[in-house]
Amino acid sequence: MSEHLTVVKHPLVQHKLTLMREKDTSTASFRRLLREISLLLAYEITSELELTTKKIETPLCEMDAPILEGKKLALVSILRAGNGLLDGVLELVPAARVGFVGLYRDPETLQPVEYYCKLPGELEDRLTIVVDPMLATGNSSVAAIDLIKAKGAKHIRFMCLLAAPEGVARMKEAHPDVPIVTAALDECLNDHAYIVPGLGDAGDRMFGTK
Ligand code: URA
Repeated sequence: MSEHLTVVKHPLVQHKLTLMREKDTSTASFRRLLREISLLLAYEITSELELTTKKIETPLCEMDAPILEGKKLALVSILRAGNGLLDGVLELVPAARVGFVGLYRDPETLQPVEYYCKLPGELEDRLTIVVDPMLATGNSSVAAIDLIKAKGAKHIRFMCLLAAPEGVARMKEAHPDVPIVTAALDECLNDHAYIVPGLGDAGDRMFGTK
């Protein structure tokens, strides 16, 4: 992907995102819409995967048919909200390897601190798609990608539902080699680092917590 930021303007993505933003949308609908949008974002983020061919036999004849080249993809979910995007992507790419990164914000330094990291092997040979619905300050995404690069990943893409300009700028500064695919670029962050207009706390809305 050559662009650093791709906003997927497909009408179905935009329609479903509006339903997700509405404050009275139920947890069940929110989760279902997130899974549906993640399929459409996954379609976009995988659109330039390399293909090779394989000889197969159809009921009529032999043919050289296209198949994906190289090692299976790696998907890395940033806990916990990343799991809402992960489910949909896994439906589209069921053979992908899956990793998880857990980070919390240190209350004093406000910097992300790792509490869990389990990643697939041979990351250097895989396209790694990192998923987190909200690219807000970018601090946790940058820290997660730091960890993933330290484990060898060289080809990384980042998929989110909403991005704030602040988060996009932070990612561009720290990881200019990581293209971002999102359903929308919102206006700004508020004083509590929430994306505005946004959709609130993605994890809480997805899991029905407060
Ligand atoms: N995380 C969320 O869940 N929502 C925001 O608006 C920002 C970060």
